[in-house]
Amino acid sequence: MSKIPVTINDSQVSGREGTTILELALENGIDIPTLCHHQRLAPIGACRICVVEVEGSRTLVASCHTPITPGMVIHTHSPKVIETRKAIVELLLASHPDSCLVCDKANVCELRKIAADLEIGLPRFRLRKHYYPIEDVSPYVARDLSKCILCRRCVRGCNEIAKQNVFAIAYRGFDSKVVVDFDQPIDKEVCRDCDVCISLCPTGALSKPSRVREEKKGKPLFIST
Ligand code: SF4
Ligand code: SF4
Ligand code: FES
Repeated sequence: MSKIPVTINDSQVSGREGTTILELALENGIDIPTLCHHQRLAPIGACRICVVEVEGSRTLVASCHTPITPGMVIHTHSPKVIETRKAIVELLLASHPDSCLVCDKANVCELRKIAADLEIGLPRFRLRKHYYPIEDVSPYVARDLSKCILCRRCVRGCNEIAKQNVFAIAYRGFDSKVVVDFDQPIDKEVCRDCDVCISLCPTGALSKPSRVREEKKGKPLFIST
């Protein structure tokens, strides 16, 4: 199969047809942050943290679901790209709880790592936080939705990998929320207790329930991807 030539950060490279900008960047050792995207899931281009600049394009494009085309000239870390990524992370942090220091996900939280990599400082946006009660009634998955960034990985993972449909997105705008049925706790037969959703969650929003943790003391709360 013929290769598609593109320029990425001033280097001439090429990739197979159908390769996304994100995949090509990874193949060439260029790190682009992602949140809604995960290699085990079909891309949806929802969070926009992976945006890059493509010369000739009016807007920044989401690299996780944009295929390369011949002659594309891509900039993955231009000032405009970095400024946009920073604004996205700052908006996410503006609605995120201030409990990072005591969050069990701590050093494996993808949001926290991206914020550190982008050197995010004091918030520029008005803080408006979600205060959802911690849901720890399910025998399979505990949820702290105040830490949810609505990346939909749990919804898609449960559907695409576990072949279940435990989660859905409900409500609109700031009130958007991952729900189970008519916004009930996860306590139903349909959950296969497979931990797929927990392993895919980029923040501390999903974890093993406290009673399971007590039984397996010493084992990690979160499942690594
Ligand atoms: S544990 Fe598995 S089946 Fe249960 S909600 Fe999570 S992904 Fe779905
Ligand atoms: S619970 Fe986790 S995986 Fe699900 S949408 Fe929220 S942050 Fe994403
Ligand atoms: S990682 Fe590409 S849009 Fe979310």
